[in-house]
Amino acid sequence: DRVEYFRYKGISLPRYLVSEDMDAIRDFAIRDDDVFIITYPKSGTAWLQRIVSLLRFGGDVSKTDQKEQDELVPYFEQKCEESVPFRELPEAPSPRLIKSHLHMFLAPLQLKQGKGKVIYVARNPKDLAVSYYHFHFLCTTIKTPTSWEQFLQEFVSGEVCTGPWHNHVLGWWEQKDNPNVLFLKYEDLQKNTRKQVEKVAEFLQWPVTPEVIDKVVEQSTFQNMATNPNTNKVSGKEAKAGIFDSSKGTFFRKGVVGDWKSHFSDEQSQWFDNFYQEKLGPTGLHFDFE
Ligand code: A3P
Repeated sequence: DRVEYFRYKGISLPRYLVSEDMDAIRDFAIRDDDVFIITYPKSGTAWLQRIVSLLRFGGDVSKTDQKEQDELVPYFEQKCEESVPFRELPEAPSPRLIKSHLHMFLAPLQLKQGKGKVIYVARNPKDLAVSYYHFHFLCTTIKTPTSWEQFLQEFVSGEVCTGPWHNHVLGWWEQKDNPNVLFLKYEDLQKNTRKQVEKVAEFLQWPVTPEVIDKVVEQSTFQNMATNPNTNKVSGKEAKAGIFDSSKGTFFRKGVVGDWKSHFSDEQSQWFDNFYQEKLGPTGLHFDFE
């Protein structure tokens, strides 16, 4: 099943996008209270979406679940086949929570000029590659890998959907000191979820009590998200739209740091480390791998 991607400025993007969509995204009118959750896929996007929407509703799960089902967390560039959400977003009530996998250089211009807020989540590339590999079986709009080795080659050379991971993460890392950007890491969320949730609340300047933080932490655990039918995407709208084939995998797969060890050979690990050391080494961006 060869799925073709849409190639735009050297990046492979979902096939349902066209050049006019990219123009519309670049010129998209940002509101001051817009919150963008931006990630390379498999970095903890759904986790952050859950945290931010829980914070928005004071930890009230019933409201959050309801909202997550409809307009609160619309797709941005990653639209379902039948709709063009960023064209619908002008109608959405504030604050708009917008999830996106855009590279920095493809993002709305106003966002880069300091309007709205961006929460970027990065994950160590080894666990991310493993997670993305498994996701390629689950998701019907991206190419099913023929082997782990072949997938890893494509990942490193940036031929996978969303393009080269290092360009993505470094593009947003360059923005990390802008007051409208919060740069988080998946491994830090794992290590101390509460601290990161507090950071997010402070960044968004949403008034929250310690009790609200407690609820947000409790409701956004892997276990709770995997068992809640409103947050488990495999039973949600992605499945209904035919984007996920639940016979081929699961979205809440493991949710741990260090699963790369069960996939990388010593040789692959060495080669991968060397490649990313060269790309990231001089930038000061580091990750925990276990
Ligand atoms: P694994 O495949 O390693 O399990 P994204 O939302 O960006 O697509 O990322 C999905 C990855 O985040 C999956 O990783 C998933 O299990 C993990 N994940 C989702 N929710 C999580 C949570 N609450 N806690 C820890 N990991 C979570």
